[in-house]
Amino acid sequence: MKLAVIGTGYVGLVTGTCFAEMGNNVICVDNDGEKINLLNNGEIPIWEPGLEDMVYRNSNEKRLNFTTDIKNAVENSDICFIAVGTPSDEDGSADLHYVLAVAEDIATYMNGYKVIIDKSTVPVGTADKVKKKVQSILNARKVDYTFDIVSNPEFLKEGDAINDSMKPDRVVIGTDSEKCAEIIRELYSPFARSHEKLIIMSVRSAEMTKYTANAMLATKISFMNDIANLCEIMGADVHEVRHGIGSDSRIGYQFIYPGVGYGGSCFPKDVKALINMAKSVGSKVRILQSVEDVNEDQKKVLVEKVFKYFGENLSGKTFAIWGLSFKPKTDDMREAPSIVIINKLIKAGAKIQAYDPVAINEAKHIFGDNPNITYAEGNYEATKDADALLLVTEWNQFRYPDFAEIKRRLKQPVIFDGRNQYNPKELAEMGFEYFAIGR
Ligand SMILES: NC(=O)c1ccc[n+]([C@@H]2O[C@H](COP(=O)([O-])OP(=O)(O)OC[C@H]3O[C@@H](n4cnc5c(N)ncnc54)[C@H](O)[C@@H]3O)[C@@H](O)[C@H]2O)c1
Repeated sequence: MKLAVIGTGYVGLVTGTCFAEMGNNVICVDNDGEKINLLNNGEIPIWEPGLEDMVYRNSNEKRLNFTTDIKNAVENSDICFIAVGTPSDEDGSADLHYVLAVAEDIATYMNGYKVIIDKSTVPVGTADKVKKKVQSILNARKVDYTFDIVSNPEFLKEGDAINDSMKPDRVVIGTDSEKCAEIIRELYSPFARSHEKLIIMSVRSAEMTKYTANAMLATKISFMNDIANLCEIMGADVHEVRHGIGSDSRIGYQFIYPGVGYGGSCFPKDVKALINMAKSVGSKVRILQSVEDVNEDQKKVLVEKVFKYFGENLSGKTFAIWGLSFKPKTDDMREAPSIVIINKLIKAGAKIQAYDPVAINEAKHIFGDNPNITYAEGNYEATKDADALLLVTEWNQFRYPDFAEIKRRLKQPVIFDGRNQYNPKELAEMGFEYFAIGR
Protein backbone atom coordinates (compact mmCIF):
# COMPACT_ATOMS: atom_id res chain seq x y z
CA MET A 1 0.00 0.00 0.00
CA LYS A 2 1.06 3.62 -0.38
CA LEU A 3 1.37 5.29 3.00
CA ALA A 4 2.27 8.74 4.28
CA VAL A 5 3.33 8.91 7.92
CA ILE A 6 3.21 12.49 9.08
CA GLY A 7 5.40 13.19 12.09
CA THR A 8 8.69 11.28 12.07
CA GLY A 9 9.39 11.04 15.79
CA TYR A 10 9.59 7.91 17.96
CA VAL A 11 6.20 6.66 16.79
CA GLY A 12 6.21 7.88 13.19
CA LEU A 13 9.71 6.67 12.38
CA VAL A 14 9.20 3.24 13.92
CA THR A 15 5.73 2.82 12.42
CA GLY A 16 6.79 3.97 8.97
CA THR A 17 9.85 1.74 9.02
CA CYS A 18 7.91 -1.35 10.11
CA PHE A 19 5.27 -0.82 7.41
CA ALA A 20 8.07 -0.46 4.83
CA GLU A 21 9.66 -3.65 6.18
CA MET A 22 6.39 -5.44 5.32
CA GLY A 23 6.63 -4.27 1.71
CA ASN A 24 4.55 -1.07 1.72
CA ASN A 25 5.75 2.15 0.10
CA VAL A 26 6.12 4.66 2.90
CA ILE A 27 6.82 8.37 2.84
CA CYS A 28 7.74 9.72 6.28
CA VAL A 29 7.10 13.44 6.57
CA ASP A 30 8.34 15.88 9.17
CA ASN A 31 8.41 19.67 9.28
CA ASP A 32 11.76 19.51 11.08
CA GLY A 33 14.12 19.84 8.13
CA GLU A 34 17.17 18.97 10.22
CA LYS A 35 15.62 15.63 11.21
CA ILE A 36 14.75 14.81 7.60
CA ASN A 37 18.27 15.76 6.45
CA LEU A 38 19.78 13.44 9.04
CA LEU A 39 17.54 10.59 7.92
CA ASN A 40 18.30 11.21 4.26
CA ASN A 41 22.00 11.06 5.16
CA GLY A 42 21.54 7.66 6.80
CA GLU A 43 21.58 8.96 10.39
CA ILE A 44 18.92 8.11 12.95
CA PRO A 45 17.80 10.99 15.18
CA ILE A 46 16.76 8.72 18.08
CA TRP A 47 18.36 5.76 19.81
CA GLU A 48 16.12 2.73 19.48
CA PRO A 49 17.47 -0.85 19.35
CA GLY A 50 17.25 -2.44 15.89
CA LEU A 51 15.87 0.68 14.20
CA GLU A 52 18.98 1.82 12.37
CA ASP A 53 19.45 -1.41 10.38
CA MET A 54 15.80 -1.51 9.40
CA VAL A 55 15.72 2.14 8.29
CA TYR A 56 18.90 1.64 6.33
CA ARG A 57 17.68 -1.50 4.56
CA ASN A 58 14.25 -0.12 3.63
CA SER A 59 15.63 3.24 2.51
CA ASN A 60 18.17 1.48 0.30
CA GLU A 61 15.42 -0.60 -1.22
CA LYS A 62 13.47 2.63 -1.85
CA ARG A 63 10.37 1.58 0.11
CA LEU A 64 11.08 4.15 2.82
CA ASN A 65 11.50 7.83 1.99
CA PHE A 66 11.89 10.94 4.11
CA THR A 67 10.69 14.38 3.16
CA THR A 68 9.46 17.74 4.41
CA ASP A 69 7.15 17.95 1.37
CA ILE A 70 3.75 17.02 2.79
CA LYS A 71 1.95 17.93 -0.45
CA ASN A 72 3.82 15.32 -2.43
CA ALA A 73 3.40 12.75 0.36
CA VAL A 74 -0.38 13.22 0.59
CA GLU A 75 -0.88 13.24 -3.17
CA ASN A 76 1.04 9.99 -3.53
CA SER A 77 -0.57 7.94 -0.77
CA ASP A 78 -3.87 6.23 -0.05
CA ILE A 79 -3.49 6.22 3.70
CA CYS A 80 -2.21 9.13 5.79
CA PHE A 81 -1.10 8.49 9.35
CA ILE A 82 -1.04 11.36 11.83
CA ALA A 83 1.84 10.66 14.25
CA VAL A 84 2.72 14.07 15.65
CA GLY A 85 3.14 14.98 19.31
CA THR A 86 0.24 15.76 21.67
CA PRO A 87 2.12 17.45 24.52
CA SER A 88 0.52 18.74 27.72
CA ASP A 89 -0.93 22.21 27.51
CA GLU A 90 -0.56 24.52 30.50
CA ASP A 91 -3.70 23.13 32.16
CA GLY A 92 -2.65 19.51 31.53
CA SER A 93 -4.97 18.98 28.57
CA ALA A 94 -3.58 17.46 25.37
CA ASP A 95 -2.45 20.16 22.97
CA LEU A 96 -4.09 19.21 19.67
CA HIS A 97 -2.60 21.98 17.67
CA TYR A 98 -0.09 19.72 15.83
CA VAL A 99 -2.74 17.10 15.05
CA LEU A 100 -5.14 19.71 13.64
CA ALA A 101 -2.34 21.38 11.65
CA VAL A 102 -1.64 18.05 9.95
CA ALA A 103 -5.37 17.50 9.34
CA GLU A 104 -5.42 20.89 7.64
CA ASP A 105 -2.43 19.98 5.45
CA ILE A 106 -3.94 16.65 4.45
CA ALA A 107 -7.22 18.34 3.47
CA THR A 108 -5.37 21.02 1.54
CA TYR A 109 -3.50 18.51 -0.62
CA MET A 110 -6.01 15.62 -0.86
CA ASN A 111 -6.52 14.53 -4.46
CA GLY A 112 -8.97 11.64 -3.97
CA TYR A 113 -10.32 9.24 -1.31
CA LYS A 114 -7.97 8.96 1.69
CA VAL A 115 -8.01 6.99 4.89
CA ILE A 116 -6.74 9.30 7.63
CA ILE A 117 -5.44 7.34 10.59
CA ASP A 118 -4.78 9.00 13.88
CA LYS A 119 -1.90 7.29 15.70
CA SER A 120 -1.18 10.14 18.09
CA THR A 121 -2.61 9.75 21.59
CA VAL A 122 -5.60 12.08 21.68
CA PRO A 123 -8.62 12.83 23.88
CA VAL A 124 -11.96 11.26 23.08
CA GLY A 125 -13.69 13.31 20.40
CA THR A 126 -10.54 14.30 18.54
CA ALA A 127 -11.43 12.25 15.46
CA ASP A 128 -14.63 14.33 15.22
CA LYS A 129 -12.54 17.51 15.33
CA VAL A 130 -10.20 16.18 12.64
CA LYS A 131 -13.18 15.20 10.49
CA LYS A 132 -14.70 18.66 10.86
CA LYS A 133 -11.43 20.36 10.04
CA VAL A 134 -10.84 18.24 6.92
CA GLN A 135 -14.42 18.68 5.70
CA SER A 136 -14.35 22.46 6.16
CA ILE A 137 -11.20 22.74 4.05
CA LEU A 138 -12.58 20.45 1.34
CA ASN A 139 -15.72 22.62 1.29
CA ALA A 140 -13.61 25.74 0.94
CA ARG A 141 -11.68 24.07 -1.89
CA LYS A 142 -15.07 23.17 -3.46
CA VAL A 143 -14.03 19.54 -3.98
CA ASP A 144 -16.07 16.52 -2.96
CA TYR A 145 -13.38 13.94 -2.16
CA THR A 146 -14.46 11.40 0.45
CA PHE A 147 -12.36 10.29 3.40
CA ASP A 148 -12.56 8.18 6.54
CA ILE A 149 -11.04 8.94 9.90
CA VAL A 150 -9.70 6.00 11.89
CA SER A 151 -8.32 5.93 15.40
CA ASN A 152 -5.41 3.51 15.67
CA PRO A 153 -3.64 4.26 18.96
CA GLU A 154 -0.04 3.16 19.29
CA PHE A 155 1.09 0.88 22.13
CA LEU A 156 4.82 0.55 21.40
CA LYS A 157 7.34 0.84 24.22
CA GLU A 158 10.47 2.85 23.63
CA GLY A 159 13.45 0.51 24.00
CA ASP A 160 11.50 -2.38 22.47
CA ALA A 161 9.58 -0.45 19.85
CA ILE A 162 10.53 -2.56 16.82
CA ASN A 163 9.50 -5.76 18.51
CA ASP A 164 6.22 -4.21 19.70
CA SER A 165 5.44 -2.91 16.22
CA MET A 166 6.42 -6.04 14.34
CA LYS A 167 4.67 -8.35 16.82
CA PRO A 168 1.94 -6.28 18.44
CA ASP A 169 -0.14 -7.83 21.26
CA ARG A 170 -3.17 -6.19 19.68
CA VAL A 171 -4.04 -3.61 17.06
CA VAL A 172 -6.88 -1.36 18.20
CA ILE A 173 -8.91 0.12 15.37
CA GLY A 174 -11.66 2.65 15.89
CA THR A 175 -13.84 3.06 12.84
CA ASP A 176 -17.51 3.14 11.87
CA SER A 177 -16.76 2.21 8.28
CA GLU A 178 -16.79 -1.43 7.14
CA LYS A 179 -14.82 -0.50 3.99
CA CYS A 180 -12.17 1.15 6.11
CA ALA A 181 -11.97 -1.78 8.54
CA GLU A 182 -11.20 -4.05 5.56
CA ILE A 183 -8.39 -1.78 4.31
CA ILE A 184 -6.85 -1.67 7.78
CA ARG A 185 -7.22 -5.43 8.21
CA GLU A 186 -5.26 -5.93 4.99
CA LEU A 187 -2.63 -3.37 6.03
CA TYR A 188 -2.04 -5.12 9.35
CA SER A 189 -2.41 -8.70 8.11
CA PRO A 190 1.39 -9.26 7.81
CA PHE A 191 1.71 -8.38 11.51
CA ALA A 192 -0.93 -10.91 12.54
CA ARG A 193 0.07 -14.14 10.85
CA SER A 194 -0.53 -16.49 13.79
CA HIS A 195 -3.87 -15.13 15.00
CA GLU A 196 -6.25 -12.23 14.64
CA LYS A 197 -4.94 -9.20 16.48
CA LEU A 198 -7.29 -6.53 15.25
CA ILE A 199 -9.77 -5.30 17.81
CA ILE A 200 -12.32 -3.20 16.00
CA MET A 201 -14.44 -0.78 18.00
CA SER A 202 -15.98 2.66 17.82
CA VAL A 203 -13.66 5.61 17.26
CA ARG A 204 -14.39 7.02 20.72
CA SER A 205 -13.69 3.69 22.43
CA ALA A 206 -10.36 3.40 20.59
CA GLU A 207 -9.35 6.89 21.71
CA MET A 208 -10.33 6.00 25.28
CA THR A 209 -8.53 2.63 25.16
CA LYS A 210 -5.11 4.24 24.73
CA TYR A 211 -5.53 6.58 27.71
CA THR A 212 -6.98 3.78 29.81
CA ALA A 213 -4.02 1.49 29.08
CA ASN A 214 -1.45 4.10 30.06
CA ALA A 215 -3.44 5.22 33.10
CA MET A 216 -3.72 1.61 34.31
CA LEU A 217 0.05 1.07 34.01
CA ALA A 218 0.80 4.39 35.73
CA THR A 219 -1.64 3.42 38.48
CA LYS A 220 0.21 0.15 39.12
CA ILE A 221 3.48 2.07 39.47
CA SER A 222 2.11 4.75 41.80
CA PHE A 223 0.27 2.15 43.87
CA MET A 224 3.48 0.23 44.38
CA ASN A 225 5.43 3.38 45.22
CA ASP A 226 2.85 4.21 47.89
CA ILE A 227 3.16 0.69 49.30
CA ALA A 228 6.98 0.92 49.19
CA ASN A 229 6.98 4.09 51.25
CA LEU A 230 4.66 2.44 53.75
CA CYS A 231 6.86 -0.71 53.87
CA GLU A 232 9.80 1.46 54.80
CA ILE A 233 7.98 2.98 57.77
CA MET A 234 6.53 -0.35 58.90
CA GLY A 235 9.81 -2.29 58.67
CA ALA A 236 8.64 -4.48 55.78
CA ASP A 237 10.68 -5.05 52.60
CA VAL A 238 8.81 -4.11 49.42
CA HIS A 239 11.07 -6.43 47.42
CA GLU A 240 9.65 -9.37 49.35
CA VAL A 241 6.12 -7.97 49.22
CA ARG A 242 6.43 -7.55 45.44
CA HIS A 243 7.34 -11.22 45.06
CA GLY A 244 4.52 -12.15 47.36
CA ILE A 245 1.87 -10.38 45.31
CA GLY A 246 3.34 -10.81 41.81
CA SER A 247 3.10 -14.58 42.13
CA ASP A 248 -0.69 -14.17 42.16
CA SER A 249 -1.58 -14.52 38.48
CA ARG A 250 -4.42 -12.04 38.91
CA ILE A 251 -1.81 -9.41 39.81
CA GLY A 252 1.30 -10.47 37.88
CA TYR A 253 4.89 -9.23 38.13
CA GLN A 254 4.79 -6.45 35.58
CA PHE A 255 4.73 -2.77 36.53
CA ILE A 256 4.89 -3.39 40.29
CA TYR A 257 8.48 -2.23 40.72
CA PRO A 258 8.82 0.70 43.09
CA GLY A 259 11.30 3.38 42.12
CA VAL A 260 11.79 7.08 41.58
CA GLY A 261 8.48 7.61 39.77
CA TYR A 262 7.43 7.18 36.17
CA GLY A 263 8.56 9.57 33.45
CA GLY A 264 8.76 9.55 29.68
CA SER A 265 6.77 11.18 26.93
CA CYS A 266 3.55 9.28 27.63
CA PHE A 267 2.51 8.37 31.18
CA PRO A 268 2.85 11.84 32.75
CA LYS A 269 1.12 13.69 29.93
CA ASP A 270 -1.52 11.03 29.31
CA VAL A 271 -2.53 10.80 32.97
CA LYS A 272 -2.77 14.60 33.08
CA ALA A 273 -4.78 14.68 29.84
CA LEU A 274 -7.20 12.03 31.09
CA ILE A 275 -7.71 13.92 34.37
CA ASN A 276 -8.32 17.10 32.40
CA MET A 277 -10.69 15.41 29.99
CA ALA A 278 -12.69 13.90 32.87
CA LYS A 279 -12.86 17.19 34.75
CA SER A 280 -14.05 18.98 31.64
CA VAL A 281 -17.17 16.79 31.65
CA GLY A 282 -17.65 16.86 35.42
CA SER A 283 -16.31 13.37 36.14
CA LYS A 284 -14.24 13.01 39.31
CA VAL A 285 -11.43 10.50 38.44
CA ARG A 286 -10.30 10.37 42.09
CA ILE A 287 -7.81 7.55 41.57
CA LEU A 288 -6.02 9.23 38.68
CA GLN A 289 -5.45 12.44 40.61
CA SER A 290 -3.76 10.40 43.33
CA VAL A 291 -1.68 8.50 40.76
CA GLU A 292 -0.35 11.82 39.54
CA ASP A 293 0.24 13.24 43.06
CA VAL A 294 2.07 10.11 44.24
CA ASN A 295 4.30 10.25 41.18
CA GLU A 296 5.24 13.89 41.70
CA ASP A 297 6.21 13.12 45.30
CA GLN A 298 8.06 9.95 44.37
CA LYS A 299 10.52 11.82 42.15
CA LYS A 300 11.74 13.57 45.33
CA VAL A 301 12.14 10.46 47.52
CA LEU A 302 15.75 9.66 46.60
CA VAL A 303 16.90 13.24 47.20
CA GLU A 304 15.12 13.27 50.57
CA LYS A 305 17.21 10.23 51.51
CA VAL A 306 20.35 12.12 50.43
CA PHE A 307 19.29 15.12 52.58
CA LYS A 308 18.67 12.85 55.55
CA TYR A 309 22.17 11.43 55.26
CA PHE A 310 24.21 14.50 54.24
CA GLY A 311 21.99 17.38 55.44
CA GLU A 312 20.18 19.85 53.20
CA ASN A 313 23.22 21.94 52.38
CA LEU A 314 25.18 19.94 49.83
CA SER A 315 27.84 22.52 48.95
CA GLY A 316 31.18 20.86 48.52
CA LYS A 317 29.53 17.49 47.85
CA THR A 318 29.68 15.61 44.55
CA PHE A 319 27.27 12.88 43.48
CA ALA A 320 27.66 10.24 40.81
CA ILE A 321 24.45 9.66 38.86
CA TRP A 322 24.03 6.42 36.95
CA GLY A 323 21.29 6.66 34.33
CA LEU A 324 19.67 9.76 32.81
CA SER A 325 17.06 8.43 30.36
CA PHE A 326 13.56 7.93 31.78
CA LYS A 327 14.02 4.17 31.46
CA PRO A 328 16.68 1.81 30.07
CA LYS A 329 17.22 1.19 26.34
CA THR A 330 16.23 4.68 25.19
CA ASP A 331 17.84 8.10 24.98
CA ASP A 332 14.49 9.75 25.71
CA MET A 333 14.69 12.09 28.69
CA ARG A 334 11.23 13.63 28.44
CA GLU A 335 9.90 13.98 32.03
CA ALA A 336 12.76 11.78 33.28
CA PRO A 337 12.99 11.57 37.09
CA SER A 338 16.77 12.16 36.68
CA ILE A 339 16.01 15.79 35.73
CA VAL A 340 14.13 16.45 38.98
CA ILE A 341 16.77 14.63 41.05
CA ILE A 342 19.75 16.40 39.46
CA ASN A 343 18.13 19.85 39.66
CA LYS A 344 17.31 19.36 43.35
CA LEU A 345 20.84 18.22 44.18
CA ILE A 346 22.38 21.15 42.28
CA LYS A 347 19.96 23.58 43.96
CA ALA A 348 21.19 22.30 47.33
CA GLY A 349 24.76 23.13 46.28
CA ALA A 350 26.00 19.77 44.95
CA LYS A 351 28.03 18.95 41.89
CA ILE A 352 27.02 16.08 39.61
CA GLN A 353 29.10 13.55 37.68
CA ALA A 354 26.61 11.80 35.40
CA TYR A 355 26.83 8.76 33.19
CA ASP A 356 24.32 7.17 30.82
CA PRO A 357 25.08 4.70 28.02
CA VAL A 358 23.14 6.68 25.38
CA ALA A 359 21.37 9.76 26.80
CA ILE A 360 24.31 12.10 27.46
CA ASN A 361 23.72 14.19 24.32
CA GLU A 362 20.08 14.58 25.28
CA ALA A 363 21.11 15.58 28.82
CA LYS A 364 23.46 18.22 27.42
CA HIS A 365 20.48 19.79 25.64
CA ILE A 366 18.44 19.77 28.83
CA PHE A 367 21.06 21.00 31.31
CA GLY A 368 22.81 23.29 28.79
CA ASP A 369 26.09 24.67 30.02
CA ASN A 370 25.30 24.28 33.72
CA PRO A 371 28.79 24.22 35.28
CA ASN A 372 27.61 21.98 38.13
CA ILE A 373 27.17 18.92 35.97
CA THR A 374 29.87 17.00 34.13
CA TYR A 375 29.49 13.86 32.07
CA ALA A 376 31.67 10.80 32.50
CA GLU A 377 32.66 8.44 29.70
CA GLY A 378 32.07 5.37 31.82
CA ASN A 379 30.03 4.44 34.87
CA TYR A 380 33.06 3.90 37.13
CA GLU A 381 34.60 7.18 36.02
CA ALA A 382 31.45 8.94 37.26
CA THR A 383 32.04 7.64 40.79
CA LYS A 384 35.59 9.03 41.06
CA ASP A 385 35.89 11.07 44.28
CA ALA A 386 32.10 11.37 44.56
CA ASP A 387 30.49 11.41 48.01
CA ALA A 388 27.86 8.88 46.98
CA LEU A 389 26.43 7.04 44.00
CA LEU A 390 22.77 7.45 43.00
CA LEU A 391 21.36 4.79 40.70
CA VAL A 392 18.50 6.42 38.77
CA THR A 393 17.94 4.31 35.61
CA GLU A 394 18.39 0.54 35.75
CA TRP A 395 20.41 -0.06 32.58
CA ASN A 396 21.61 -3.69 32.38
CA GLN A 397 25.22 -2.68 32.78
CA PHE A 398 24.47 -1.21 36.23
CA ARG A 399 22.88 -4.40 37.54
CA TYR A 400 25.97 -6.32 38.66
CA PRO A 401 28.74 -3.74 38.86
CA ASP A 402 32.16 -4.23 40.38
CA PHE A 403 31.40 -2.96 43.87
CA ALA A 404 35.08 -3.11 44.92
CA GLU A 405 35.85 -0.70 42.06
CA ILE A 406 33.02 1.61 43.13
CA LYS A 407 34.25 1.54 46.71
CA ARG A 408 37.80 2.37 45.63
CA ARG A 409 36.61 5.38 43.65
CA LEU A 410 33.95 6.88 45.96
CA LYS A 411 35.09 9.13 48.81
CA GLN A 412 32.84 7.11 51.07
CA PRO A 413 30.96 3.91 50.27
CA VAL A 414 27.38 5.20 50.08
CA ILE A 415 24.81 4.13 47.48
CA PHE A 416 21.28 5.47 47.00
CA ASP A 417 19.50 2.97 44.79
CA GLY A 418 16.41 4.45 43.14
CA ARG A 419 15.55 1.17 41.40
CA ASN A 420 16.13 -1.48 44.07
CA GLN A 421 18.77 -3.22 42.00
CA TYR A 422 21.13 -4.38 44.72
CA ASN A 423 21.06 -6.76 47.65
CA PRO A 424 21.11 -4.77 50.91
CA LYS A 425 22.71 -7.63 52.86
CA GLU A 426 25.53 -8.14 50.35
CA LEU A 427 26.22 -4.41 50.18
CA ALA A 428 26.32 -4.15 53.97
CA GLU A 429 28.82 -7.05 54.05
CA MET A 430 30.99 -5.17 51.55
CA GLY A 431 30.96 -2.15 53.84
CA PHE A 432 28.52 0.04 51.92
CA GLU A 433 25.84 2.21 53.42
CA TYR A 434 22.94 1.39 51.17
CA PHE A 435 19.59 3.13 50.80
CA ALA A 436 16.86 1.77 48.51
CA ILE A 437 13.13 2.34 48.04
CA GLY A 438 10.78 0.64 50.48
CA ARG A 439 13.34 -1.70 52.04
N1 LIG B 1 6.96 7.85 22.25
C1 LIG B 1 6.23 6.81 22.58
O1 LIG B 1 6.72 5.87 23.20
C2 LIG B 1 4.77 6.75 22.24
C3 LIG B 1 4.09 5.54 22.35
C4 LIG B 1 2.74 5.49 22.02
C5 LIG B 1 2.08 6.64 21.60
N2 LIG B 1 2.75 7.81 21.52
C6 LIG B 1 2.03 8.99 21.04
O2 LIG B 1 2.37 9.22 19.68
C7 LIG B 1 2.43 10.62 19.40
C8 LIG B 1 3.81 10.99 18.86
O3 LIG B 1 4.74 10.75 19.90
P1 LIG B 1 6.31 10.75 19.60
O4 LIG B 1 6.97 10.31 20.87
O5 LIG B 1 6.60 10.03 18.34
O6 LIG B 1 6.55 12.33 19.39
P2 LIG B 1 7.86 13.02 18.83
O7 LIG B 1 7.87 14.37 19.44
O8 LIG B 1 9.04 12.13 18.96
O9 LIG B 1 7.57 13.17 17.26
C9 LIG B 1 6.61 14.03 16.70
C10 LIG B 1 7.15 14.54 15.36
O10 LIG B 1 6.14 15.25 14.69
C11 LIG B 1 6.75 16.32 13.98
N3 LIG B 1 5.73 17.31 13.63
C12 LIG B 1 5.06 18.17 14.43
N4 LIG B 1 4.20 18.91 13.72
C13 LIG B 1 4.30 18.49 12.42
C14 LIG B 1 3.66 18.86 11.22
N5 LIG B 1 2.73 19.82 11.21
N6 LIG B 1 4.01 18.24 10.09
C15 LIG B 1 4.94 17.29 10.09
N7 LIG B 1 5.60 16.88 11.21
C16 LIG B 1 5.27 17.48 12.36
C17 LIG B 1 7.80 16.82 14.95
O11 LIG B 1 8.80 17.57 14.30
C18 LIG B 1 8.33 15.49 15.51
O12 LIG B 1 9.43 15.01 14.76
C19 LIG B 1 2.05 11.31 20.71
O13 LIG B 1 0.68 11.57 20.72
C20 LIG B 1 2.38 10.27 21.76
O14 LIG B 1 1.62 10.41 22.93
C21 LIG B 1 4.08 7.90 21.80
